[in-house]
Formats: sequence, structure tokens, C-alpha cells
Amino acid sequence: MSSKTTLKYGIVPVLFALLASPLARAASPAPVYAQEALVVSASPLASEAGAEVMRQGGNAFDAAAAVGFVLAVTWPEAGNLGGGGFLVSVTADGTALTLDFREKAPSHAGKNLFLDEDGEVIRDVSLHSPLASGVPGSVDGLLRIWRDHGSGRVSRRELLAPAIRLARDGFIISRELAQTLNAKRELFANNAAAARIFVREDGRPWQAGDLLVQPELATTLSRIARSGREGFYEGPVADLIALQQAATGGLITRDDLASYESKYRDPVRGSYQDYEIVSMGPPSSGGVLVVQMLNMLAAFPVEELGWGSSRYVHLLTEIERRAYADRAEYLGDSDFFPVPVETLTSPGYAADRAATISMERATPSDEVSAGSIEIHESPQTTHYSIVDAEGNAVGVTTTLNASFGSGIVIDGAGFFMNNEMDDFVAKPGVPNLYGLVGGEANAIAPGKRMLSSMSPTVVTRDGKPAMVLGSPGGSTIITTVMQVFLNVAVHDMDIQEAVNAPRHHHQWLPDRIMYEERAFPADVREALEAMGHTLADAPRTIGAANCIRIGEDGLYGAPDPRRQSAAAGY
Ligand code: DON
Repeated sequence: MSSKTTLKYGIVPVLFALLASPLARAASPAPVYAQEALVVSASPLASEAGAEVMRQGGNAFDAAAAVGFVLAVTWPEAGNLGGGGFLVSVTADGTALTLDFREKAPSHAGKNLFLDEDGEVIRDVSLHSPLASGVPGSVDGLLRIWRDHGSGRVSRRELLAPAIRLARDGFIISRELAQTLNAKRELFANNAAAARIFVREDGRPWQAGDLLVQPELATTLSRIARSGREGFYEGPVADLIALQQAATGGLITRDDLASYESKYRDPVRGSYQDYEIVSMGPPSSGGVLVVQMLNMLAAFPVEELGWGSSRYVHLLTEIERRAYADRAEYLGDSDFFPVPVETLTSPGYAADRAATISMERATPSDEVSAGSIEIHESPQTTHYSIVDAEGNAVGVTTTLNASFGSGIVIDGAGFFMNNEMDDFVAKPGVPNLYGLVGGEANAIAPGKRMLSSMSPTVVTRDGKPAMVLGSPGGSTIITTVMQVFLNVAVHDMDIQEAVNAPRHHHQWLPDRIMYEERAFPADVREALEAMGHTLADAPRTIGAANCIRIGEDGLYGAPDPRRQSAAAGY
């Protein structure tokens, strides 16, 4: 690592997005350096709260829970109590663990929940209605990881104290949050409880520097601090959720809440060169696809192609196309559908899939279907990365799905409910919010978890954590994580360059390459089109990867300049 930005003042809020978004490779600033412990998240206040927990003797798991609760206050578009997520960790001794706190379909939700009498999808119900919400998992997940893997030196009250304070006393909002709140004014106006909190009483738009106070959320957080998971899944908060759901046509009952449990899952593992990948398995598709795509790349001289060349973009597009075709067919909640994880992540299967790739011409997506696998009957998001002084590495991706989820706040409890039910397949072949299609594997069923693309990932080398990676971005999360990894592993970028470098994405259907501004110089565009690729009409931003690289001399944090993000550590 040649250069670094040292954390002299404990925190470096990064708002490069104001300068240029995304930045070209050459313009990347140095990563943020910390000697012992580091948090990179979407919110300066959350990163600082996590760093402080570790300064006071907590470990990365304590910090992960504290950051999660603060994000529910200071990053309300995606940080949440009413949503869910995944945590992936490799501890200092090389032990991998993954925790699934994904939302679940309510017990009365059936396969045809979002279909009308003619069997057609009723648009918007899966996104902006009380039926859009799955049973929230975040509170159970954050408390479980703190209880099971925390240092034991941070009490529940201490864990929740920063979040409670920020909700109760308020916090000064950034320009970015002000803009987001103003952009969503119409969404909030549809829900009295949301409007009361997130639309200013005096009617003027939010501005950077305004104070956002959330007293009802402070009360809910205090109940959790006092009573633990019962403070949310039982008692007054559960009553408020269940009563509001019942009164407005939602399906979540008190029983659904009381019976919600986060689950430890088997990590998905793979390798690339001398790195090992540890990532999230079903009900996320992220880990399986990252590993499968890297396995497919093994047959190609990736380094020789050169970063950003038309042949490199072509190759990534072709492996992405094939992996996302498999996602649509085979990926879902493995508690309900026999997801063939072992086959999908095996080098042999990847070699077969990759054998149909031509380096001269694009394979149209209608010529690509899922690989043939015999199934045996056994079976607006945010990512933060943390490494503590002991060397434990933790990545968490959490979400309400769309920005502010369903837009519905639980009256009296002060938090947004997710609209994660849209991640299920409403009808085979009909795309969801992210244009993703699927079938039986991801059909709605009572108590089932909807398929996710969230891909918190820890990369190890010689058994020790080397990188913590992850991103929001719906379907583009998976390709973002893979590209950031390749940027470091193959293209020799430092972690900030790797995060900043323009990205592109293909997901089988629709058959087009999405790309960021400056990703493709004119000759690369022309070469791709000549090979038969279709490019999206216009560039867009892809993901927001808040990542850490663990170097021999310390920790290197890369807050993503595409959205507000900040590193804090010491
Ligand atoms: O779980 C998923 O794949 C989606 N609900 C994630 C949504 C998301 O990343 C939105 N962020 N920008």
C-alpha cells in the first residue's frame, strides 16, 4: 500500500460523490487507514458508534449490533428495525459463521398473494401496501450476534444507548439525507405516521443541518434495551405491528412475530487464486453466485485481458449471464426448496457452464437457460464492514428492500416496515423491482424467506481475514462484490481504487449490460456492440460498497463515494 489517509480525528466522512460520481480509477484517493479497529458504513454517526464500542473493549460483533441499531436511526432509508439482513464473519482464528436474519413471509401468505382473479400480478401491492412486508428479522439478528459472539463486556443497555440518544435527542442531517427525505415526500404523505416524522411540520423542505428527532423510535429502542427481543416481538411493539397490519389488510400476526428466529447457516465457500471466499448462502443467492462466477473465470486468462478492456467486460458479462440464469431456476430459501448449493459452487459445474462461452461473440440470453442439475430431495439496502483489534472480520448487509421499504411506519413505534415480499416471485417469469425473474424455488409460502442478492463476504488468505466486502444495489450487489474482489485480487488495485472503479452488470434478463458513467470508453462500447451485446440506454450508479482490506500493517477502509459513507476507527 503506497498511500493512506490516517484517521487523525477518529472519523473521515466521505462525500466524494459531490465531486464526481463515480470517480475514474486514476482519481481515487487513498483508503482510510486505522491501525487496530475500523468500521465503514453509510453513516458517520453509525461508524463512530461502532468504533467507540470497540474502543471501550467491545469486539466486532458488539460493534456490528451497535452500528445496526444506529443505522436504524440515522440511515432510515435502509437501516432498520422493520427489515432484515445477513451477517458474514471470519474470526481471528479462521472460524467462519453466517447469520440469516432475513424477513419471513407471514403464516397466512400464499403463493398467489399478489395475483388478481385472472392470475395477473397486481402491481405495487408487493411494494407499497401492508402486504408488502415480511416478518422483520433485524432485531432478533442483531441481539443474537451480540449475545452469542459479543465480548460479554457490553451490556444491552450500552449497546443500544447511542441509537436511543440519537433518536430521542435528534441528529443533524446531511445534505444527502435531506435530499433523500425531500425526494420521498410523496411516499411519506401516503402514511400519516411517516409524514408526522419525515415531513417537516412547517412544510419547508429538509436542509443539511436540520435536526431529525424520532421520539417514537426512541421508545421502541428503549423497550428493546430493557426487554431484549421480547421488547420488539412481544408486548406493546408487537401489538402495534399486529394491530396496524390487521386494520390495514396486512397479514403479520402476533404469532408470526413471536415465532420469528434468525438462523445460523452454513457459509458458502469457494476459492480464487490463493484467496478463499466465505459468503452468504440461501436464502441469499449472493454467496453461491459470487463463488460460481469466480469458478467460471478460472478457465480464462483474466489478468491478461486487462481491466476495462472490451474482452474483459465481455467475459464478465457472459459468466454473469449464466449465473443469473441459474439463480432464477435454482435459488430460494433452502428450508423450502432443495437448492443445489454444492453443485452450483463446484468447479466442475462451473467449467461445464463456462464451456459455452465464446470470446468472440455474445451469447444471447434466450440461448442461455439454467444448467441442468438433478435436484435431490434432501435438502435501498446498506452494507457495513468491521474489523476489530483481535482481527475478527464482520460484514453485514441489511435492508428494507426499496428505499424506506413499504413507506409505512408503525404508528406509535416509529419505524418503517420493509417491502421485502417483492423479492419473492409473484408469478413465474414476471420481473420484480430489480428486473429479476424466477419460479418455483422462490415462490411465496408461509414462513418462507424471500430470495436475496445480499452478499456480505469475507475473503481470507492463509486462513486469515484479508477483505470484508459487500454492497447494496438489489440484483447488482453480487456483481459489485465480485468486481471489487477482482479489482484487488487480479488488477492489483488498493481497496479504495477497487471500490471506486466504474462497474458494469448483466443479469441474464433483461439481456443488456448496465454500466456506470466512464465505465466504457467509446471504443469499448463499439467493440461490445460488435460482439452482439446490447448496452443499457443510459449509465446508472451501481452499488455502494463499504469495504475493508486487512493489510500487514493495519486496516484500510474504503467508503464508497457513490453514496454517503464514512469510516471510523483507531
Ligand atoms: O435482498 C435483496 O436482494 C434486496 N431486497 C436488496 C435491496 C437493495 O439492495 C436495495 N438497495 N439499493
